[in-house]
Amino acid sequence: MKRKVYIETYGCQMNLADSEIVMGILNNKGYEVTNKIDSADVVFLNTCSVRDNAEQRIHGRLGNIGTLKQRNPNMVIGVLGCMAERLKDDLIEKKKMVDLVVGPDEYRRLPSLIDDAVNGEKGIGVRLSRTETYEDIEPYREDGLSAWISVMRGCDKFCTYCVVPFTRGRERSSKLISVVEDVKKLSERGFREVTLLGQNVNSYSDGENDFSDLLAACAEAAPGMRIRFTTSHPQDLSDKLLYTIAEHSNICNYIHLPIQSGSDRILEAMNRTYTVKHYLGIIDRARKIIPGVSFSTDIIAGFPTETEAEHKMTLDVMAKVRYDGAFMFKYSPREGTRAYKIKDDVPEDVKSRRLTEIIDQQQKISFEINQGLKGTEDVVLVESLSKKSDNFYSGRTDTNKIVILPVANNVKIGDLVKVKIFKATSATLFGDFVEIVDKYQL
Ligand code: SAH
Ligand code: SF4
Ligand code: F3S
Repeated sequence: MKRKVYIETYGCQMNLADSEIVMGILNNKGYEVTNKIDSADVVFLNTCSVRDNAEQRIHGRLGNIGTLKQRNPNMVIGVLGCMAERLKDDLIEKKKMVDLVVGPDEYRRLPSLIDDAVNGEKGIGVRLSRTETYEDIEPYREDGLSAWISVMRGCDKFCTYCVVPFTRGRERSSKLISVVEDVKKLSERGFREVTLLGQNVNSYSDGENDFSDLLAACAEAAPGMRIRFTTSHPQDLSDKLLYTIAEHSNICNYIHLPIQSGSDRILEAMNRTYTVKHYLGIIDRARKIIPGVSFSTDIIAGFPTETEAEHKMTLDVMAKVRYDGAFMFKYSPREGTRAYKIKDDVPEDVKSRRLTEIIDQQQKISFEINQGLKGTEDVVLVESLSKKSDNFYSGRTDTNKIVILPVANNVKIGDLVKVKIFKATSATLFGDFVEIVDKYQL
């Protein structure tokens, strides 16, 4: 009988993509993928270390899984991903139920490590690689509309608060040709959208091509698919990239461009390597070159030594840019990073209050932007039935906004339809059906 493997994924999209690589590797070795944890022979948690609360969640989950293992002692339990890389053998020593600890660059060893675990041997694989891209591995993907591809791994930026360079190692990129082949296969399988992933996609380089070349090649290889990408770092975002987005109707007019803070002093302490002025310059040029482009950002509240005035600068820059969306976090000290050595001196209640102010302001801005869209038309990729009612579909615009539209007029999941917006909240647009379109131009 085939061994069954179950995986639960935490953290960023790169981890989601990695889980598909892990399943691809095991599927090749004859494993069956299951979504039922109770009947699995092998249970993996693909973990995240970016903030302390991410790790706490996983500690909690491991507790539950320990109970499962008491009932089925033959179950192999593995911790994969960033937490495995950060905590290494500590995890095996402290968590009795854990058999395997395998970091992001050692997934090829999983089949043999599982075999060892079945024979009662604990296994650990946490070496980082300068070259591993898994580009020859076919990820295990369920059929669907939307897929992702890691086009680069690791990060060389070393922002002072961030564990990612330690858990994911140095930057390296897949070859353009291998990414393009993958995109073509997805298109042939009926996928309508792909997101190209990297911690800092703008520093993509396969020796011959930069990220703009890669985006353009993907867009041209699959004209029937929407192409998205994340994350862009403000230091490396080129005008060439902006023109590439503008010139291809199927590259989405949406840029996730984390600013982190509105204070130059804090940005320097974070080693972000740009100033607010440089950042705002990119936003201006992008809006000129790509009419209608939307932006989202990441913000950290309460970085060590952040003053009230510096916090206000963050609110100010958000008001200037008017982001369509934002991911907002309280600073969380991470052992081993440079910022860990600076005293975490913003009191918890102040951090919480600053974060609330940031979230409230963003909600207000998103609401205002979305109100302004009432009466306009846009093209939506229909993704699923709405969560609330089978009489409505949920889809997204090119600019990544969620739109609810009625189920009718022969519209199917996977169609591109033009809708007219009649109502909006801070998070959702509501539209009437106008017509089905089969091209990415309006
Ligand atoms: N490479 C991407 C994403 C990295 S992790 C980038 O550079 O934007 C996603 C977000 O988590 C970061 O942008 C940052 O806002 C946040 N983050 C990372 N480390 C953090 C920490 N120690 N405390 C709080 N937020 C953190
Ligand atoms: Fe972390 Fe900075 Fe790299 Fe993003 S760019 S992954 S925040 S070190
Ligand atoms: Fe988390 Fe690792 Fe992604 S720390 S955010 S899973 S790169």
